[in-house]
Amino acid sequence: MSDKDEDVQLEARLAEQDAFEPPEAFVEQANVADESIYEEFEAEWPDCWEQAAALLDWTEGYDQVLDDSNPPFFEWFTGGELNASANCLDRHLDERGDEPAIEWVGEPTDEANRTYTYEELHREVNEFAAALRELGVGEDDVVTLYMPMIPELPIAMLACARLGAPHSVVFAGFSADALATRMNAADSEYLVTANGYYRRGDALDHYEKTSEGLAGVDHEVSDVVVVDRLGDDDHGHALDSNEHDYDGLVADHDGATVDPVARDAEDMLFLMYTSGTTGKPKGVKHTTGGYLSWAAWTSQAVLDVKPDDTYFCSADIGWITGHSYIVYGPLALGTTSLMYEGTPDHPDRDRLWQIIDDYDVTQLYTAPTAIRAFMKWGEQYPDRHDLSSLRLLGTVGEPINPRAWKWYYKHVGDEECPVVDTWWQTETGGMMVTTLPGVKTMKPGSAGPALPGVDVQIVDAAGEAVEPGQAGYLTVQKPWPGMLRTLYRNDERYVDEYWAEYSDTDSDDPSDWVYFPEDGAKLDDDGYITVLGRVDDVINVSGHRLGTMEIESAIVGVEGVAEAAVVGGDHDLKGEAVYAYVITEDGYEEGEDLRERIVAGVEDAIGPIARPEQVVFTPELPKTRSGKIMRRLLEDIANGEGLGNTSTLRNPEVVEDIQQQVDD
Ligand code: WTA
Repeated sequence: MSDKDEDVQLEARLAEQDAFEPPEAFVEQANVADESIYEEFEAEWPDCWEQAAALLDWTEGYDQVLDDSNPPFFEWFTGGELNASANCLDRHLDERGDEPAIEWVGEPTDEANRTYTYEELHREVNEFAAALRELGVGEDDVVTLYMPMIPELPIAMLACARLGAPHSVVFAGFSADALATRMNAADSEYLVTANGYYRRGDALDHYEKTSEGLAGVDHEVSDVVVVDRLGDDDHGHALDSNEHDYDGLVADHDGATVDPVARDAEDMLFLMYTSGTTGKPKGVKHTTGGYLSWAAWTSQAVLDVKPDDTYFCSADIGWITGHSYIVYGPLALGTTSLMYEGTPDHPDRDRLWQIIDDYDVTQLYTAPTAIRAFMKWGEQYPDRHDLSSLRLLGTVGEPINPRAWKWYYKHVGDEECPVVDTWWQTETGGMMVTTLPGVKTMKPGSAGPALPGVDVQIVDAAGEAVEPGQAGYLTVQKPWPGMLRTLYRNDERYVDEYWAEYSDTDSDDPSDWVYFPEDGAKLDDDGYITVLGRVDDVINVSGHRLGTMEIESAIVGVEGVAEAAVVGGDHDLKGEAVYAYVITEDGYEEGEDLRERIVAGVEDAIGPIARPEQVVFTPELPKTRSGKIMRRLLEDIANGEGLGNTSTLRNPEVVEDIQQQVDD
């Protein structure tokens, strides 16, 4: 048979196959290879989670695994004390001091990459922690980190953790306004930023955006630390009196050490703002003991991380995936975490494959949006490189369709790596639903069963479990250590957003409390879960979570706009794209000028990721008789689907007008 014939046959076989067994060579060495863990964890819940806590070093042992006396304010490992930075650094020094903790690959190819051994990382984290302490940062002060993908970001995170100061990382791609909103919400008085970073060959200014953001902060910001990512020549900005050069601070504290501050298990490790149904981002609070245990345990059980690995997660640390699976999980386990500054298509579309080849990467954890792009670019790019060091592949952020899954499995994993499709959220802290790679059959398109000890049920609107084959709402019926503890300074919203839907909120009985992540899902006969997507007004653009209300309020803020509705429409590469329907104010013209101002308005308020794919002008929005905007209908229009029943519309004629415009 010719190579080509063989390829065709292989494609045909893969296309038909809907279940894949874990590769034998993988199973033989897997961290978890025994199916009995599911039963064991169920029987021993919640004590099973001692196994996660046991992955960490505690300076004070905990008294209780789970305190569920005040639901839904669950507490884990109460009475225990530990420090996250000591767990990610100090305890590895004896055995792994000379091993790389972080391999950093900058985007420019003519620049040296950087390796930080555990020893070196420990040293710089200590120096920077000493510098922060001198600036006045103390326990429980929220430090905002508005930084690109440079090693100083994990260093700053760990320095904060060392001091017991929660960090709030703001994605560098977010706008100045988004920075100000988050600093204001947290009353954060300290900021670490950078002067810029590289994107597709260009040096981008980040300092100016930072300064604009600071202008919008409603309280005094005592200190700002600026990392000079672009080199002296490009620094180009005189620093204000409360602004400090990162390198200078670290040099001033050369060799300084800071004792890791003992934190209570329930003390906040960090805050992460994420999008929800309303226009205001939610400050998700994660704790030191539960979160870190969860990040470490899932890294070990699902990503199969071992100390000698070179593990590569291509997410940005500005999102939860980077927190849990570039920084905290891998470093807690003492492995080598590879971080890459740039995009996968610079200088060419084989950049990730080049990196994997160069560093002998053992696991790749990426997102469906990236996999769809790789697939579109073609297998010639991975084919150029030796990817045989890979042992496991992972995906996160949105549903992955079977075709993309199989492409990843075949062209990246060479059919020798299990693929874990991991469902979780900012709020869950880490993975919740996915196959254990050494144990479970994989079914492309379905994330898998819930992890051992995780109680997920798909329910109908009344909260009753649905039959296999039916769609319903994903719920989590029992608490877990990695869960958010509350929304920062807003316990009420925490209860409303995540618990009220399916819980008896008057009850003190923990079993009456059900967590609702606002995702739809389907169950099959084997208990595998296919996640269908959000059921709230959140859209998922390239795996990035955006609130339609946030985007709408940005658009309504543009001069000439009277009303706006934003929905997600299907998109080949991004998964979903932003569609904006806009009504203009009297006296303003619908047209290119306004369209451009709307796009700019969204970029200013949130960032380029939220840029509308289409802006559709309409004299009216389709509304129900009670005056609610019919988003479902707008989604159908965006997706070019039939309009179904419009009879309950107050203004059915408007639909055709809108559709006409989208088609044009
Ligand atoms: C979606 C990212 C399908 C889901 C870690 C969830 C997924 C939201 C998957 C959380 C997956 C994440 N399959 N959908 N494997 N993983 N999602 O907070 O809608 O940025 O609620 O956390 O992404 O997004 P977040």
